[in-house]
Amino acid sequence: MCGIVGAVAQRNIVPVLIEGLRRLEYRGYDSCGVAVLAGGEPHRARSVARVADLDEQVRETHLEGFTGIAHTRWATHGAPVTNNAHPIFSRNALALVHNGIIENYESLRDMLRGKGYEFVSQTDTEVIAHLIHSLYRGDLFAAVREAVQQLHGAYAIAVEHKDQPDTVVGARQGSPLVVGLGEGENFLASDALALAGSTEHFIFLEEGDVCELTLERVRVADRDGNDVEREVRTVAAYGGAVELGPYRHFMQKEIFEQPRAIGDTIPQADSFDASLFGDAAATAFGEIDNLLILACGTSYYSGLTAKYWLESIAKIPTQVEIASEYRYRDSVPNPKSLVVVISQSGETADTLAALKHAQSLGHKHTLSICNVGTSAMVRLTELSFLTHAGREIGVASTKAFTTQLVALFVLAATLGKLRGHVDASLEAQYVRQLRHLPAALNSVLALEPQIIAWSEDFSRKENALFLGRGLHYPIALEGALKLKEISYIHAEAYPAGELKHGPLALVTEAMPVVTVAPNDTLLEKLKSNMQEVRARGGELYVFADSDTRIVSEEGLHVIRMPEHYGLLSPILHVVPLQLLAYHTACSRGTDVDKPRNLAKSVTVE
Ligand code: G6P
Repeated sequence: MCGIVGAVAQRNIVPVLIEGLRRLEYRGYDSCGVAVLAGGEPHRARSVARVADLDEQVRETHLEGFTGIAHTRWATHGAPVTNNAHPIFSRNALALVHNGIIENYESLRDMLRGKGYEFVSQTDTEVIAHLIHSLYRGDLFAAVREAVQQLHGAYAIAVEHKDQPDTVVGARQGSPLVVGLGEGENFLASDALALAGSTEHFIFLEEGDVCELTLERVRVADRDGNDVEREVRTVAAYGGAVELGPYRHFMQKEIFEQPRAIGDTIPQADSFDASLFGDAAATAFGEIDNLLILACGTSYYSGLTAKYWLESIAKIPTQVEIASEYRYRDSVPNPKSLVVVISQSGETADTLAALKHAQSLGHKHTLSICNVGTSAMVRLTELSFLTHAGREIGVASTKAFTTQLVALFVLAATLGKLRGHVDASLEAQYVRQLRHLPAALNSVLALEPQIIAWSEDFSRKENALFLGRGLHYPIALEGALKLKEISYIHAEAYPAGELKHGPLALVTEAMPVVTVAPNDTLLEKLKSNMQEVRARGGELYVFADSDTRIVSEEGLHVIRMPEHYGLLSPILHVVPLQLLAYHTACSRGTDVDKPRNLAKSVTVE
């Protein structure tokens, strides 16, 4: 999704801006651009191709300057054409980049047209540029502060004006923005990652903040216009480029990193203690009697899986809701709820908004399960548990998902213990099973050659059904999501018992039906559902635990999972589904790490 980089320095800043955009590329974008102040006016280059193309353009045209802003755009208002790419200019005096959506852009546009401003793009962003220009009286910081009072919606912006050649001003509301502090130079970015290599010192701006960057100084004002000192944090972890190593794509690399990522996420201690979730957790966990889980995309499916664990291990009622639905619904708040937000990035706009909505309804106890310790979500919640997946580059989430599952299992076990449902011997058993997970995952990854053989068949299909039951229904959902995201094959998942209430009508020889078949209490029921598919000529592709006695026959293909893993089985069963989607997409030749129309971190609603 959209990315921002900005800088004020005493050297040509364009290479730093382009490198920043490169670091944000993995998030997904459809156009990009850069603008510098030079010779008393803004100059820009824009491209609807990749950042590499923009880089070539700036080299050819010798675009250089000491003050600049840059952007990767993921189109919302207006098609991904050069004219809509940022930076957007106002009267050749001011350049601006924007992440987010301005909801009142139509009324602002009418007002600004009335003042003689001409609109040349279809973006909502152009109103911000003209609005700030119209309010500019020699002080960009003041003009931005005045302008943002009139904006409704979400934004992170960076702006520069020809009359203040050593200044970049930024502002945020609903979209992230960080300041990077250098020596005699300062930076701005939508993600600290973009500035790795330039600085390790960051100010994470808060909602409503406006900042002014000059060579020697960073000034921050809060939403009320008061100058404020924000904490400077040192974050070294962003350094270094992520290498692909022997893998073809980041997604494949990330699938194979799962044993390491899970090993790092499993707590060191041999017991489940509330303190794993923060100092206030013991008190908070004692005051709750239910959970409300909010998330989007793959993270939502980890929440759905967790519901089974939380209700069966901790016996605590759990509700799981898609964040974009919850935030706009009239719901009944329960002060005894623990609101859990799950997010890889910690910046997903809908999940953040749902969290704030829950807090505004009076929910006191909140917990984030997140892969980014410096994210807005972690900063906003009372409690947190960090997953240690490491940086995930592929848009389709893999290791973030399985590490979330580990975190949620630990949560269920911790609450179960506190509520008297997990005794010492059960605790020791869960710890043992968690510790063995990395080795078990390695055996599952060794199934790759068999899955590659299946992917050849799948790559010629246009539809697929995924079936699972109980704990593995969310895994079927995740398998279908992976396949559609990256191979563009239409895929749907159903709880297998629901087959006869509709989807069976779709089953013909042309419909592959992927079935997740662990050896659990629902196995016999699942086998009957498989018979229903076979009876209609449907072709079954089954991932079966080794002790299920499901064997290959005409129309029934079986890959045996090496181990039967009880309650933690979803963490193993999702891995072959990730590999199936990955290799099918490779056979179809799609852009696996950057699937069309999708973004890694969705910072607009
Ligand atoms: C996007 C990504 C998904 C991710 C979802 C939620 O749609 O493409 O992979 O699951 O956002 O993101 P989050 O960072 O909140 O987990």
